[in-house]
Amino acid sequence: MTALTRPTLDLYDSWAACVAEFASEPGHIHASATWLLDRAPETSQGYCAELVAAIEANADTRRTQRDGIVHADTFWVTQDDVVVGFLQLRHHLDARLLRVGGHIGYSIRPSHRRRGHASQALNLALDRARELGLDRVLVTCHDDNPASARTIESAGGVLEDTSAGVRRYWIEL
Ligand SMILES: CC(C)(COP(=O)(O)OP(=O)(O)OC[C@H]1O[C@@H](n2cnc3c(N)ncnc32)[C@H](O)[C@@H]1OP(=O)(O)O)[C@@H](O)C(=O)NCCC(=O)NCCS
Repeated sequence: MTALTRPTLDLYDSWAACVAEFASEPGHIHASATWLLDRAPETSQGYCAELVAAIEANADTRRTQRDGIVHADTFWVTQDDVVVGFLQLRHHLDARLLRVGGHIGYSIRPSHRRRGHASQALNLALDRARELGLDRVLVTCHDDNPASARTIESAGGVLEDTSAGVRRYWIEL
C-alpha cells in the first residue's frame, strides 16, 4: 500500500537508492525538497540527515522561512518501507507557485512508475490538505507531461488554463 511517510534517517538506504535512480533524468527531483539545502544534492548519510532536519524546519509553522520558501509538508512516498518517490504539499501559494508549482508536487522513481503510486499519494495529500484547512488546491504540470496530467485529472483536477506550457488545475476539497 502506498503511504506518505515523514522523512526519517531510518529509511536512509532506501532514500539514497531512490535519489540515485533519478540521476538518469535531467533536472531537479520534483518534491524532493533538496533545494532547502544550498548545495548540490548528494546521497551521503550526512546530507540526508541535514535534509531531514531542513524538511522538519520547513514544516514548522512557528519558524519563519527564508524568502522564496513557503511552509510545506514534504513526504517520502513509501511502500512497505521502500522509498518509491517524493511528495510536497505547500501550505499556501506565493506569486511564483500560483503561476507554476501549485500546492502539491510529486515524483515517483522510474522503476516504480505505472503502479498507481502517484495517484494514491496525491489522494493522501488531499486528505492532509483538508486537515490543514485548505478548501481547494492548485496542481500544475507541463503540457508535455501526460502522466502527471492524468494523475491530476484522476484526482478531480479541473483545468483552469494553460500558460507558457504549464497546465494549471484546481482540485476542490
Ligand atoms: C508523473 C509521475 C509522478 C506519475 O507517477 P506514476 O506512479 O507512474 O503514476 P500512476 O501509476 O499513479 O498513474 C497515474 C495516471 O497516469 C497515467 N500514466 C502514468 N504514466 C503514464 C505515461 N508515461 N503516459 C501516459 N499516461 C501515464 C496512468 O495510466 C494513470 O492514469 P489513469 O488514472 O487514467 O489510470 C511519474 O511519471 C514521474 O515521477 N515523472 C517524473 C516527475 C514528474 O513529472 N513529476 C510531476 C511534475 S508536475
